[in-house]
Amino acid sequence: MNKRYRKAVVAANWKMNNGPEATKAFFLSLRSFLHDVNWCKVIVAPPFVSLPTAVKAARGCKVEIAAQNCYCEDSGAYTGEVSCAMLSELGVKYVIIGHSERRRIFGEGLELIRKKVEKALESGLHPILCVGETLDERQNGITGEVLLTQLKTALKNVTADDMRRIIIAYEPVWAIGTGNNATPLEANQACEHIRDWVREKYGARLARGVSILYGGSLNDKNASSLFSMPDIDGGLIGGASLIPDKFEKITKEANI
Ligand code: PGA
Repeated sequence: MNKRYRKAVVAANWKMNNGPEATKAFFLSLRSFLHDVNWCKVIVAPPFVSLPTAVKAARGCKVEIAAQNCYCEDSGAYTGEVSCAMLSELGVKYVIIGHSERRRIFGEGLELIRKKVEKALESGLHPILCVGETLDERQNGITGEVLLTQLKTALKNVTADDMRRIIIAYEPVWAIGTGNNATPLEANQACEHIRDWVREKYGARLARGVSILYGGSLNDKNASSLFSMPDIDGGLIGGASLIPDKFEKITKEANI
């Protein structure tokens, strides 16, 4: 991570874990730690139903709250969906978009993800855009291509001003929840590729400032070697972020 140009980001993606009670307990156990974190940006993404609890619990702590999903319309007949304006109203600041579980399990395509990014920006939220290749794609040598297709579509209409509000997370699908993290070198290569593309489209200055995270079986044991790579600016953490102790350790590893 290059601290000269970027602040580290450690983001917890709780997925479908931690209802309101568990959310309260998590923040209670990390309260004093989270009160003092100033070396990195900490973001926690609980499920929708726990967002109000999380926003309240995070008051006075250096933590921002993210949603794990949003819809691309403002309101209307979209049963089961939640708009970006509703999230903003709750005090949510970030939203994860394009996670591979949304792409794969819920069939979210490139165009829908693009619309969600645009709506999130329009609503004042900061998108955390996830991109990543499957194992097949990696083995076929098309990782770079896949990442660029996902980036190019999602960010097609995003201006430089808006790009400053976006965090990108490189999450190889084969590494998510498998215990099989990308090596620091593999992860850095992909993050560097992403930064090169950002430089091409938005210029060197913006590319230097954009935060590119790694996600996929990141834990308290491998965080330090991943965070020490020049183009990895932090992590998007699933499983290990559910355990307060581990999340605290990972966050401390971002202090380099
Ligand atoms: P994992 O999930 O850390 O459990 O692999 C990461 C993610 O899906 O964001």
